[in-house]
Amino acid sequence: ETAHDWPQLLLGWFRTHRRDLPWRTSPRDPYKVWVSEIMLQQTKVEAVRPYYENWLDHFPTVASLASATQEEVLRQWQGLGYYSRARNLHQAVCEVQARYGGKVPDREKDMLSLKGVGAYTAGAVLSIAYGRPVPAVDGNVLRIFSRLYLIEDNILSAKVKKEVTRLAQDVIPDDAPGDFNEALMDLGASICIPRHPRCQECPLVSCCLAHEKGRETELPVRIVK
Ligand code: ADE
Repeated sequence: ETAHDWPQLLLGWFRTHRRDLPWRTSPRDPYKVWVSEIMLQQTKVEAVRPYYENWLDHFPTVASLASATQEEVLRQWQGLGYYSRARNLHQAVCEVQARYGGKVPDREKDMLSLKGVGAYTAGAVLSIAYGRPVPAVDGNVLRIFSRLYLIEDNILSAKVKKEVTRLAQDVIPDDAPGDFNEALMDLGASICIPRHPRCQECPLVSCCLAHEKGRETELPVRIVK
């Protein structure tokens, strides 16, 4: 158990350190959050930015993407790589148009039924766009939790992913789940980074078990299966 209410420390930090990103509109648009999360899956923020902007110019809504041809969709994705992401997103958006009248579903079960949408993407869209308390566990979150809770098992194992998901479910603030998940993304991008974590700048330094034991650079344990 960590000593303090670390989610509140994280949210306090996020208020002054949140990154200004094009998909962080107010209010959040579920379709835009979804597009950004798919683009960000194997690609860094700065590489995504111009593609994201261009994509929204061509396909500003679910309806506009649903009515595009696959050829046009792949042309706009050209250069981002991992083209199955674009094909799956297009198929899923067509399904949202047909089955839900163009409204991105706000229930986890419905989101998970869409092509290319796994637990991470569903959690990100549901929490950020709809304020639902659903975790969004990606590599950044696994790294942060492995340090915070001193989890020494392989973070690439299903067991650790399950454990971290449960821990996140237990602490995600009901009144700010999207901010909480976005704050973890930003902390993982700027402070709790893989190789030389900036612990002296971290809002969670007083709660971090790995830091307390001087073991932050040894974690996470990452063994490719
Ligand atoms: N990495 C993955 N999702 C992200 C998001 N929504 N904002 C910033 N970085 C991210």
